[in-house]
Amino acid sequence: MVIASPDLSSPPPRFADAQALAAPGMGQVDALIRARLASDVVLVNQIAEHIVGAGGKRLRPMLVLLAAQAAGYRGNHDTLLAAVVEFIHTATLLHDDVVDESDLRRGRKTANALWGNAASVLVGDFLYSRAFQMMVEANDMRVMRILADTTNRIAEGEVLQLLNIHNPDVDEAAYLRVIERKTAVLFAAATRLGGLLGGLPITQEEALADYGLNLGFAFQIADDVLDYVSDAGTLGKNIGDDIAEGKVTLPLIYALERATPERAQVLRHAIQSGGLDALETILAAIRDSGAVARASARAQDYANAAKAALCTLPHSSARDALAALADYALQRDH
Ligand code: IPE
Ligand code: IPE
Ligand code: MG
Ligand code: MG
Repeated sequence: MVIASPDLSSPPPRFADAQALAAPGMGQVDALIRARLASDVVLVNQIAEHIVGAGGKRLRPMLVLLAAQAAGYRGNHDTLLAAVVEFIHTATLLHDDVVDESDLRRGRKTANALWGNAASVLVGDFLYSRAFQMMVEANDMRVMRILADTTNRIAEGEVLQLLNIHNPDVDEAAYLRVIERKTAVLFAAATRLGGLLGGLPITQEEALADYGLNLGFAFQIADDVLDYVSDAGTLGKNIGDDIAEGKVTLPLIYALERATPERAQVLRHAIQSGGLDALETILAAIRDSGAVARASARAQDYANAAKAALCTLPHSSARDALAALADYALQRDH
């Protein structure tokens, strides 16, 4: 990965500007999401409404719209594909909360906590398959290939992560392999689809995908830091969920690298057994090792790479907005 410095020639665009630029389109995306959640099976409606109604940042659909805008697209398939991407994301969250045994999401009790694992998994399947019904409407084989491949990679990522659970020897490379699949490829698909809709030359479509991929890495590393440094009220998710499940993420990998032998022993045991008993020691190890600063710097590298990838695109306010989202991925508090 080549890390270039961000373009400093103009004032840095803010997240609020990016949101404002995407707002009209996002209104349509929201309406479409609502309309297409419908099912005559009551439990499907209840659970889908529960998680979708809680909001979420809607970052991935925003990426589709802004990338399409940056690519000069004028039609309305961007709304459709933005909704598809958010449906796929929401399906992964329903499944992820079952696997992670999480009970707080978007400030609400999780679907699995309220309705149980079986219902959550099945409604996740409903959302995946609804997304596939919708993507067919775009009537473009390239769109279908991108989304089919991406969804398949996400599933691999979640399984790969499952294989790594409770393993204290998971290193940075293994961690990066997981987050590329479980998170970054969906970001890459979102931005690539925008470029594809706009009919960009392949090099520029690739640049948008590269932007999305790097942004996805930055976003997940930031999420994994927040899991240790935020609080449930701000984050809308419980803190310490990762270690509770024996999941090894970058802050913990860095803390382990620099821990005293005694502390390393406690950390390794916590990973192997899961639970939150050792949380205080882990937090102290993370603090004393500078792991948060190190992980954040790594996330910043990816955000910078994302911004650098945008340089090949023609200048536009949408391109500036995408650059702003790269900074937001790190600065966000939830
Ligand atoms: C949560 O994604 C899953 C990760 C990849 C970390 P978001 O943080 O985008 O979740 P919502 O949609 O805003 O709730
Ligand atoms: C992201 O991982 C999950 C998916 C991409 C499906 P996490 O497990 O860290 O996500 P949160 O923290 O539960 O949102
Ligand atoms: Mg999770
Ligand atoms: Mg997380």
